[in-house]
Amino acid sequence: MAVLVTGASGFIALHVINLLLSQNYKVIGTVRSQAKADKVIRQFNNPNLSFEIISDITKLDAFDETLKKHGKEIDNVIHMASPLPEEGNTDFENHYLLPAVNGTKSILSAIKKFAPRSVKHVVMTSSIAAIINVNDFSVVTTEKDWNPITWEQAKTSSFMCYLGSKTYSEKAAWDFLKENKDEVDFKFTAVNPAMVFGRQMFDEDVKDTLNVSCEFVNKILCLPPTEKLSQDYAMSYVHVDDVALAHVKAIQEDKFDGKRLLLSAGTYSDQLIANSINKQFPQIKGTIPPAVEDCKQLDIRYDSAVTQKLLGIEWKSFDASVYDIVHQALKRRGKL
Ligand SMILES: *[C@@H]1O[C@H](CO)[C@@H](O)[C@H](O)[C@H]1NC(C)=O
Ligand SMILES: *[C@@H]1O[C@H](CO)[C@@H](O)[C@H](O)[C@H]1NC(C)=O
Ligand SMILES: *[C@@H]1O[C@H](CO)[C@@H](O)[C@H](O)[C@H]1NC(C)=O
Repeated sequence: MAVLVTGASGFIALHVINLLLSQNYKVIGTVRSQAKADKVIRQFNNPNLSFEIISDITKLDAFDETLKKHGKEIDNVIHMASPLPEEGNTDFENHYLLPAVNGTKSILSAIKKFAPRSVKHVVMTSSIAAIINVNDFSVVTTEKDWNPITWEQAKTSSFMCYLGSKTYSEKAAWDFLKENKDEVDFKFTAVNPAMVFGRQMFDEDVKDTLNVSCEFVNKILCLPPTEKLSQDYAMSYVHVDDVALAHVKAIQEDKFDGKRLLLSAGTYSDQLIANSINKQFPQIKGTIPPAVEDCKQLDIRYDSAVTQKLLGIEWKSFDASVYDIVHQALKRRGKL
């Protein structure tokens, strides 16, 4: 049997695939192009990994062919694909919000059509964006909370649209389950991570600028020592190893059925990142903004105690999360 992983070339997805392969799962990945598939196949070099190309996940029948072809071998689905906004396109509704919702519907309806009894678990990568309170970011939220963002609000900027696309695409999944509970057998779990920190699975993917989350750490390395950093709340973080583990545990144990897993290990500020880098990489002291000892204490914004207990893990620490990004970045720059 196999695990279908959609959006299989992303930062988190590569860690999920690595964990699955290390536990001897067969993995079928979907990506948008043959070039992406070839690259990931070369990187893992493992016969248990194969690919299907799905160029546009926003068509409602996007996954039909794949499920028709492999439906009998697939018993778990990890849905990580999420449409990317087109650069410079400000028609957020038609080019981001609606496609995101369609992407969720297309995978779930393909399962319903071609593998309604054989797929046992579906895990969807959502985000803390679907939990955060857009009207007051300081409200402490838990896995029970839904971002109250309205469709109208979501159309107003690319940031709002990101929050909206995550909220409405996860909602689409729960709605689908309600409407189709007699027609499908699978258990369902949503995974809602904060900013995901950690190393890139493969060193060759470390670039001068990293993808979204890790860039929040990476950018500090490029700042001059004279730069004054903010000590205010920036975001909450979680280590990519914990995110990968949550996805894999969710397909393995029935107790995760119907749950949202809020993955947040703690809060950070830009200054706290700099403090951590200065402490762990003394060799670059003086080239980046210095540590500030009496740094502002930050309150938590997300209470992830319930998820942590359910997963039975200790979150990887802030220092470990920062270390893994910086170590790889400095190696690339020849500074280690
Ligand atoms: C980083 O982002 C680029 C462009 O958005 C994407 O093509 C690539 O797959 C991403 N890489 C990872 C490892 O997520
Ligand atoms: C592939 O999976 C099988 C079990 O299905 C396992 O025995 C084998 O070691 C795996 N191969 C690799 C290279 O991981
Ligand atoms: C969403 O799917 C519907 C039905 O197939 C289609 O008409 C619509 O164009 C899709 N919307 C987007 C934005 O992809």
